[in-house]
Amino acid sequence: MHLHRYEKIWIIFGTGALLAFLIILGIGAFYQGSQPPSCMVTIDPQNVQAHEAFKEENLGLNQVGENEYVVNILASAFNYDLGKDENGAPVKTIRIPAGAKVTFQATTSDVIHGFELAGTNVNMMLEPGYISEYETTMDNPGTYTLICNEYCGTGHHLMYATVEVYE
Ligand code: CUA
Repeated sequence: MHLHRYEKIWIIFGTGALLAFLIILGIGAFYQGSQPPSCMVTIDPQNVQAHEAFKEENLGLNQVGENEYVVNILASAFNYDLGKDENGAPVKTIRIPAGAKVTFQATTSDVIHGFELAGTNVNMMLEPGYISEYETTMDNPGTYTLICNEYCGTGHHLMYATVEVYE
């Protein structure tokens, strides 16, 4: 088969450009251990209880200052664990006063889950092995639904909790 000289040049140029692109992309994706933002802290997904924030008694709402809260959430298929109430029943609603500074601190003990507080800017991905954190001020009173926006299995649509911001 006879290839025209220009054809050869362009085949070599095209293949070379593709290779250069893939190499840059491949190195860039993992350069200096880069990882998704907000997942700066690592955790053992097999033993999340070893971390202070995800011990059973520290899950859910914690007041840490006069108008400052930390909410620890352990996601797993297909639930957001917010701790237990005084009767031992699982907490499904977090109540926060309007204007409070809130830090959502979450992780997952199994697969990737989403963490979206519908109607707010709170939106994170929860990945096994990382703690995701989102700091915000809840100014607008209302009822917000926490939903999983990463498909995680057959019960994906059952994964939710509620955050109530009251005046
Ligand atoms: Cu968890 Cu979808």
